[in-house]
Amino acid sequence: MTPCHLITGGAGFIGSCHVLQTRAAGIPVLTLDKLTYSGNLANLDSLRDDPGHVFVQGDIGNAELVSHLLRTHRPSAIINFAAESHVDRSILDPEAFIRTNVLGTTSLLRCALAYWQSLNPSEQRDFRFLHVSTDEVFGSLGPDDPAFTEQTPYAPNSPYAASKAASDHLVRAFHETYGLPVLITNCSNNYGPRQFPEKLIPLLIRNALARAPLPIYGTGENVRDWLHVDDHCAAIARVLEAGRPGRSYNIGGRAERGNLEVARAVCALLDEERPHAAGPYADLITFVADRPGHDWRYAMNCERIETELGWRARHSFASGLRETVRWYLDNADWLEAVQSGAYRQWLETNYARR
Ligand code: NAD
Ligand code: TYD
Repeated sequence: MTPCHLITGGAGFIGSCHVLQTRAAGIPVLTLDKLTYSGNLANLDSLRDDPGHVFVQGDIGNAELVSHLLRTHRPSAIINFAAESHVDRSILDPEAFIRTNVLGTTSLLRCALAYWQSLNPSEQRDFRFLHVSTDEVFGSLGPDDPAFTEQTPYAPNSPYAASKAASDHLVRAFHETYGLPVLITNCSNNYGPRQFPEKLIPLLIRNALARAPLPIYGTGENVRDWLHVDDHCAAIARVLEAGRPGRSYNIGGRAERGNLEVARAVCALLDEERPHAAGPYADLITFVADRPGHDWRYAMNCERIETELGWRARHSFASGLRETVRWYLDNADWLEAVQSGAYRQWLETNYARR
């Protein structure tokens, strides 16, 4: 029987996409997720009757639980998506990011190492620990700077980015010190179905549909490089399959857009798909106080993954964004269900004082 993959954070936005893709490829999956505010079992609804999928609610920092799962399920790979993932929350509560992203990842690494050391030589050779990281570890680019490469020195600016940078360094250190076969992927901003509506694109869609202001931080000129979540997960699968242990791989969409441009594009799509009698959605765009330490621009140079592993993004930003807007319109129940009291409290905390 094919050995399973342990996917942590598999009930979140990107992790759930990866769980679904891995099951579609016929690989059994063990999902471990704490189900924090952004974890959502509804994201895995289609696997409810799938005997090839096991879900366990738990913390990557719970060494006893993780060691038990490794011993009993014997995965051939661990893919670590579990993280606190939102920059604005990290500004208000950095400790939560240290707990999961730094301490949790370190505990997961220790369990993975002990498990890997217990495997026979051929299982050891085939085993991989893939850590999913972000372009934000590299810091901020000016308008004309070349894109980040895998050699760009780390210079994280937010507590979120700093916690991810720390976890990347620890993953790398477990390779150098103990020989654990690790891989790191650093990806740009993702968009697509099932993204929690605290991040820019789903927040814009959610607010537009609620006829609420569309908050743009600062001048709206900050640039992000957007990649569809399906393409990100396909890249991770490719790195897992053929990446060189100890290496990191940049992943990006070659789709740099200013935030205001993204907001206008979302509004134009909504005008077409769900026109409103009160007028164009762009009328709701509102400039608000900037994010402290707001990185100006991210851009990824993906030559390594393209030339070494033959990966290419398949979605264009225009078609991917249209498909994403349609997904949120077609899945109003999903959007409504994630807007708990805690979510409304977050909107109040983050936006009322801006
Ligand atoms: P998300 O917030 O939607 O999902 C995170 C998941 O991790 C949730 O299901 C949550 O319940 C789970 N989790 C949190 N703490 C946990 C813990 N201690 N133990 C077990 N599970 C825990 O985030 P996402 O956007 O899907 O991001 C997933 C990963 O990808 C993160 O590591 C993030 O840093 C990275 N990443 C995200 C982006 C992006 O644009 N969203 C880009 C590059 C990299
Ligand atoms: P976000 O989706 O939080 O991702 P990240 O900070 O990881 O890049 O934000 C994307 C960009 O959108 C970022 O430059 C901040 C900006 N932004 C706004 O202008 N308004 C908002 O309400 C949010 C959430 C983000």
